[in-house]
Amino acid sequence: MLSREQVQEALREVLEPATKTSLVGLQWIRDILVKEDRVSLTVVCAKPNEETKSTLEHQIKDRLASAGAGDVHIRFREASEQEKKEAGIQQPDSSAERFKGRGEGLEELPLLDPESKVNFIAIASGKGGVGKSTVTVNLAVALARKGKKVGLIDADIYGFSVPDMMGIEESPVVLDGAIKPVERYGVKVMSMGFFIQENSPVIWRGPMLGKMLRQFLTDVSWGELDYLLLDLPPGTGDIALDVHQMLPQSREVIVTTPHATAAFVAARAGAMAVQTKHEVLGVVENMAYYECSDCGKRDYIFGRGGGAKLAEDLHSELLAQIPLGAPDNHISEADYSPSVYKENSSTGHIYADVADQIIQKCEQD
Ligand SMILES: Nc1ncnc2c1ncn2[C@@H]1O[C@H](COP(=O)(O)OP(=O)(O)O)[C@@H](O)[C@H]1O
Ligand SMILES: [Mg+2]
Repeated sequence: MLSREQVQEALREVLEPATKTSLVGLQWIRDILVKEDRVSLTVVCAKPNEETKSTLEHQIKDRLASAGAGDVHIRFREASEQEKKEAGIQQPDSSAERFKGRGEGLEELPLLDPESKVNFIAIASGKGGVGKSTVTVNLAVALARKGKKVGLIDADIYGFSVPDMMGIEESPVVLDGAIKPVERYGVKVMSMGFFIQENSPVIWRGPMLGKMLRQFLTDVSWGELDYLLLDLPPGTGDIALDVHQMLPQSREVIVTTPHATAAFVAARAGAMAVQTKHEVLGVVENMAYYECSDCGKRDYIFGRGGGAKLAEDLHSELLAQIPLGAPDNHISEADYSPSVYKENSSTGHIYADVADQIIQKCEQD
């Protein structure tokens, strides 16, 4: 399998047509993803017309094929005004754009301002792999579908999965010193993964992340938000503690699988929330059962009752039991997002119901 670095190395000599400079040098080859022999990437381009796209596509595919890639998928995106400026491409009329960015920044009340009405919800779990990120992403999308203004911070240092899960291919842009989050399905997303080298060791990430998290809360132009969801790292480590301290007003949703041990481990994350006086909004039991698509019979393959027991132990409630099953949305490449359930699917309905409960709990007073 090729590494990202090898992909970059192979493409080093491919030139951006307008500036005749290396695309890799400009950092205009983005979102490099390698899965087995399949490579996908985004090319930022000053003028992505059909001719430049086809020329670049040929060059990139040839070079990657020589480097050993099989299937290559390329997306094109036009460079933002800021990116063009950074690349030294003159823009006759970029002042309007700059002004717009600045205007938006000024109206905002800082997220951490005590007057800010944002509802912070941290999604926690005892261990990894229980579907915490899946639940975070789908809850965020469900809240947005209800017309709420939603932000999402991917703060799980062990694996920043939110951009991939939502099919996000672009990176955030910096406009006049403020970072603009990437928007997808009406959710504004910031991920630590946008800024951290994919293969940097976790041990280096910890100290950077505390800082970065604070920056995400202070230097990102989120615009007006009703909800800000945080995908926390599993367990009760430093980052989770940082969030508790930085956002004393944050509430929590705890995700577990139905298995008794998973629920037991999740209870620790819950206990930490309780100790730090964070309200636990409820428990989501993910991978609760498998439902046969032919006969509708439910098999509780990972055991049963973990979520309900955990909710009881935390004096909270079970918000939902989400069945096993990947979203069925591989149909259109344009709308591809591996982990977002469709609004009209049965799991989509369950998430809509969780969103209603959350809104009720957060907005009742
Ligand atoms: N209800 C579900 N049914 C089937 N697969 C699921 C479900 N929830 C999550 N998954 C899958 O399980 C894996 C772990 O989920 P993820 O959300 O990344 O967990 P975590 O963030 O807790 O580590 C992912 O591959 C995800 O697609
Ligand atoms: Mg995760």
